[in-house]
Amino acid sequence: MVSSILCVLLVILEITVAKTQSTGPVVKGLSYTFYDSTCPKLAAIIRNHLNQVFQRDITQAAGLLRIHFHDCFVQGCDGSVLLDGSASGPSEQNAPPNLTLRPEAFKIINDLQALVHRQCGQVVSCADITALAARDSVYLSGGPQYDIPLGRRDGLNFATQAATLANLPRPTSNTTTLLDSLSTKKLDPTDVVALSGAHTIGRGHCTSFTSRLYPTQDPTMNQSFANSLKVTCPASDTSNTTVLDIRTPNKFDNKYYVDLMNRQGLFTSDQDLYTDKRTRAIVTSFAVNQSLFFEKFVAAMIKMGQLSVLTGKQGEIRANCSARNGNDMGLWSVKSRSVPQYGKLDYYWQIDDDDNHQQNQWRNSQPQSKSYNFNGNYYNNRGFSAPGDPDGKRKKRVASYNMYTVEGKLKSSVKNSFKWIKNKLSADHVSYDA
Ligand code: HEM
Ligand SMILES: *[C@@H]1O[C@H](CO)[C@@H](O)[C@H](O)[C@H]1NC(C)=O
Ligand SMILES: *[C@@H]1O[C@H](CO)[C@@H](O)[C@H](O)[C@H]1NC(C)=O
Ligand SMILES: *[C@@H]1O[C@H](CO)[C@@H](O)[C@H](O)[C@H]1NC(C)=O
Ligand SMILES: *[C@@H]1O[C@H](CO)[C@@H](O)[C@H](O)[C@H]1NC(C)=O
Ligand SMILES: *[C@@H]1O[C@H](CO)[C@@H](O)[C@H](O)[C@H]1NC(C)=O
Ligand SMILES: *[C@@H]1O[C@H](CO)[C@@H](O)[C@H](O)[C@H]1NC(C)=O
Repeated sequence: MVSSILCVLLVILEITVAKTQSTGPVVKGLSYTFYDSTCPKLAAIIRNHLNQVFQRDITQAAGLLRIHFHDCFVQGCDGSVLLDGSASGPSEQNAPPNLTLRPEAFKIINDLQALVHRQCGQVVSCADITALAARDSVYLSGGPQYDIPLGRRDGLNFATQAATLANLPRPTSNTTTLLDSLSTKKLDPTDVVALSGAHTIGRGHCTSFTSRLYPTQDPTMNQSFANSLKVTCPASDTSNTTVLDIRTPNKFDNKYYVDLMNRQGLFTSDQDLYTDKRTRAIVTSFAVNQSLFFEKFVAAMIKMGQLSVLTGKQGEIRANCSARNGNDMGLWSVKSRSVPQYGKLDYYWQIDDDDNHQQNQWRNSQPQSKSYNFNGNYYNNRGFSAPGDPDGKRKKRVASYNMYTVEGKLKSSVKNSFKWIKNKLSADHVSYDA
């Protein structure tokens, strides 16, 4: 009797740990139950409305997912990307990231906020609505279902254009740049590869990738893929768009990674994840195991969703997601905030000759013409380098994320444990919600 109780306790403890490890720690001030008493229908309102929106046009899911990413990477997940004028004025670049955010996505978020405030009053932040909309966009497109911590507050100011450009990696970035850039946000290589998997849905404009076609073609690109892109983008400044995942453009699945293995990734930042030996094995592991991708994607999204959040009495709950409350204090002044700013202005220019030399030597020694085909989860791993990282210097620089604290394990609730058991027993694909 005693031993069976002990046994049950041990199982619960073990499961608590597993749940914590799959989702990571929760930032102080956020919680999974934040609106349980103040807006119990929040999740249902958002899911129902998006369900209707996506039945008309599933491509809107990608726009919503991307907005949350931009929000979190620039100045933290504080809804600042939603403020009118949020990319700040005239640009020095041809295509500043803001210009390719979908106007429809901003409208959908405003509609969601109106629905939520009608039911619950002005208690839910635009930042949380954006985070929930991104979560549901993943799920309603075929991806994993998962809980996210809530309680974000809305920022009072949007970021400067310099901060926007410095914090959002460019599509022309190589893996070195991506790893360096995202490590400043405590995202590790697995997070980088998993988050990039968001490109399993959505579209890109010609200007985001024609540098791979003109004047000379990127040799890592599949030739017939390049030929079809040249039809879509006959010149480097064509305003056309094309899908990010040629296999299943509107479905949230792991086919993006299969694209990369076939050298059909759209951006340099995508394709180089497969070319670079530090991330190649991760790409492969996701291409052959969708459950693994979903698990790592969820963990990375929950990390990303808590970057530099405002909580408690910081910021405000906006009445209108496009404008701060009492719009009289001058949106243009970027006031100092009590939370740290991520992102270094100079990371684009970090150069490490040794590393680059090694990388180029390695790159040049890679065969340039392979095609991989997948049928379900079958995969013949002949010809792939094992995961390994001979580059000690780099390894030290890429920050590791100390996420599984004992404290975090103990804080994870028993409620979550039971949810987890239920899911574990019923899931045929990864599912994180009850
Ligand atoms: C890792 C660095 C990343 C780079 C360099 C990058 C770059 C881009 C670019 C250039 C586009 C196309 C914009 C256009 O031309 O219209 C795009 C689209 C998109 N990105 Fe990313 N992105 C990155 C990470 C992410 C992350 C972390 C997420 C979300 C978790 C994400 C979600 C999306 C989605 C869903 C789209 C499609 C948007 C639409 O269809 O409107 N991206 N990204
Ligand atoms: C940023 O993008 C949004 C949505 O397209 C737009 O409403 C806003 O005016 C843009 N800001 C600037 C400065 O271009
Ligand atoms: C846009 O792409 C389509 C399909 O790829 C192509 O047929 C069309 O010519 C392109 N339009 C322009 C203006 O380049
Ligand atoms: C795929 O990943 C899941 C989740 O990590 C794991 O439980 C499972 O064993 C993996 N499947 C295979 C065939 O490796
Ligand atoms: C929200 O704010 C924007 C920007 O100030 C404004 O254009 C829009 O009309 C406002 N919406 C509502 C419903 O008041
Ligand atoms: C990655 O990009 C950076 C910045 O453009 C460049 O300096 C570096 O040489 C590139 N590294 C590799 C391995 O290609
Ligand atoms: C490029 O893609 C096409 C179409 O998917 C495929 O038939 C071909 O084998 C690929 N070529 C290479 C070199 O990977």
